[in-house]
Amino acid sequence: MPHREVPDASPARLSLISRHLAPDYPINTPYAVERIPDTIDTSLLPKTQTRKMSTQPPHATLLIPGPIEFDDAVLQSMSHYSESHVAPGFVATFGETLSMLRKLFQTTDTASQPFIVSGSGTLGWDLVAANLIEPGENVLVLGTGYFSDGFADCLGVYGAKVTELKAAVGSRPQLGEIEKALSEKRYKAITVTHVDTSTGVLSELENLSSLVHRVSPDTLILVDGVCSVACEEIQFDAWKLDGVLTASQKAIGCPAGLSISMFSGRAIKALESRKTPPASYFASMKKWLPIMQNYENKKPSYFATPSPQLVHALHTALTQILSKPLKERFARHKEASDKIKKAIADLGLKQVAANPADQAHGMTAIYLPETVKQTDILPSLGKRNVIFAGGIHKEIATKYIRFGHMGVSVLDPARGDIDRAIKALQEGLSEHGYQKA
Ligand SMILES: Cc1ncc(COP(=O)(O)O)c(C=O)c1O
Repeated sequence: MPHREVPDASPARLSLISRHLAPDYPINTPYAVERIPDTIDTSLLPKTQTRKMSTQPPHATLLIPGPIEFDDAVLQSMSHYSESHVAPGFVATFGETLSMLRKLFQTTDTASQPFIVSGSGTLGWDLVAANLIEPGENVLVLGTGYFSDGFADCLGVYGAKVTELKAAVGSRPQLGEIEKALSEKRYKAITVTHVDTSTGVLSELENLSSLVHRVSPDTLILVDGVCSVACEEIQFDAWKLDGVLTASQKAIGCPAGLSISMFSGRAIKALESRKTPPASYFASMKKWLPIMQNYENKKPSYFATPSPQLVHALHTALTQILSKPLKERFARHKEASDKIKKAIADLGLKQVAANPADQAHGMTAIYLPETVKQTDILPSLGKRNVIFAGGIHKEIATKYIRFGHMGVSVLDPARGDIDRAIKALQEGLSEHGYQKA
């Protein structure tokens, strides 16, 4: 029997989920029925945007915490002609894409294993829960918000006994509490949401991992990096991580549809030494493991049909990412994030992630002034061709908005996305009568 109940489908929860999916116009508001028009007033778009996005129809700039704006070349690589998923050309592309993931995750350990499986980020939770944990085993989930709650729910569905160590909204569990929790029970795994997209809270991985290795060395360290891979530093080998799962549509900058993960030799051993078979068919890492190994060795292999077009897009996105030092990429994201956070502070606004050391670099969750509603500001931003997301953390959902700043919007300053978004926010707030006190 699962230790936790399956996620509830109450109207409140569904409403939160809908807001995440259609964040530009929160539901249950007069704006729910309005849409951003399919054709927008291109005279409002700055010249740079029209130039840089020349192959894409003019559109409002998507600055939610994923999906993000896509580079032209990444999008174009999806219009690849149809090819067999077991033909040499595609097998080579898939194999190279897997090898590039090793570089992105900074692992040279041959025991590490990358996976690319059709699906979204959520599938990464299922991979972990169905393969690395057996029913009845204890998992410690570090609770930072909506997404760590989701990970906990998923683990429970597969029968894990979940203990969620929850932090106050806008914060993360501290090392001392984690050490105490680890010393009270034997945990098969600990999970951490590197950036909880509901709060913009960044968790520390390096110190967490050394703590776990010191006090509970057999515990697997599993990271939800959906909102952090490719915009926050992650050193898979050096930090001795056992699993990092992510998705294609955030900082990697590829359309949604791929679950991307890296697992350590220890994690693969845990998979191989299971007493019970993996509790999923499509999400069985035992089924996918030989497929991934074969593709990387340029051998055709089949378990379920991959999406060649998405894999081409990912290949292009990773080629672009790896064409420059990763350090530089992370530094550019930090620089943009610092600028945004300063602009927010200059406006007299506070972030959900209160402590600067806990603030993500690929997104910012911003508390609104009491006098301005989400249902006022999001349409005002939309009028200015900028799309932010609404709140999603159930305790504060209507009180804040989320600004995603990842990938090309940060790395290609000629687009002007970040400056335009900051200006739109300033103008939108003043349109609704807000003045800094
Ligand atoms: C931190 C985090 N984990 C998991 C997910 C789930 O990913 P997906 O929506 O691609 O299934 C998300 C989605 O935003 C996320 O931000």
